[in-house]
Amino acid sequence: MSQFAFDDAAAKAMEAIYLTPDVVAQRARVLDLLAPSPGERVLDVGVGPGLLALDLARLVGESGRMVGLDLAPAMVATATARLAALPQAEVRLGDATDLDLPDAAFDLAVSTQVYEYVADMPRALNELHRVLRPGGRALILDTDWRSIVWHSSDSARMDRMLACWDGHLVDPHLPAKLGPMLRAAGFEVRRVEIVAMFSPRWQPVSYAGGMIGAIRNFVRANGQQFGLAAAELEAWWSDQEALIAADAFFFSVNRYAFLATR
Ligand SMILES: C[S@@+](CC[C@H](N)C(=O)[O-])C[C@H]1O[C@@H](n2cnc3c(N)ncnc32)[C@H](O)[C@@H]1O
Repeated sequence: MSQFAFDDAAAKAMEAIYLTPDVVAQRARVLDLLAPSPGERVLDVGVGPGLLALDLARLVGESGRMVGLDLAPAMVATATARLAALPQAEVRLGDATDLDLPDAAFDLAVSTQVYEYVADMPRALNELHRVLRPGGRALILDTDWRSIVWHSSDSARMDRMLACWDGHLVDPHLPAKLGPMLRAAGFEVRRVEIVAMFSPRWQPVSYAGGMIGAIRNFVRANGQQFGLAAAELEAWWSDQEALIAADAFFFSVNRYAFLATR
């Protein structure tokens, strides 16, 4: 089980981070790779606040269909409000591992930053494969937290912080295994790309600028469980503040986009 609570507060925080230029650029790349056309039927698994789903619904148009589903009621409510004006869009409560949808019902499927929270990945990918029509396209994107380069004055302490942050999801290293998993589920992997979240300098309105607070909050709430003392977290935070003040902040982490066909 993921440790992360996708509640109202998380929905708001996530929405703000997803509106930063880094994540706007990610959505543009995902749409380029998926290339939705008017009239296509698209599924967004783990729709979250619905920003990508909104773009998808507009691109497939009223002759198409966009179904978004999510396990968290707060996310379903946020995405439903965002998509309310589009008759081709529908948002439902649902689980990636047990899709309440017919076989071969979609031309396209997308799932960004979701499968890293899912424990039974073979089952989730079998479900994704089942609901896509033969020849249908799937775009999956997840972070490998091992790819992080985040400057700190104390790298051992940073490693302990990040080990604790790894606990916010089921698999912080999913992308390295995703190719074989997709093939085992019957997909053909067509393309794999890196999408970097890259802040070589402090910029408050950025993915890193938003995530630094989210990571601190998660570690503050869960650090003890992972053996990280409160004083260490505070020392880590003070160090980051000092690096920001000295214009010495640096953050980079990679997401991996897999384009596959059924
Ligand atoms: C980090 S958010 C990503 C949201 C969205 N895909 C995006 O990229 O903007 C992860 C989302 O996956 C959802 N989620 C996690 N496990 C899920 C599951 N088993 N089935 C469906 N949704 C799930 C969470 O509720 C959350 O909304």
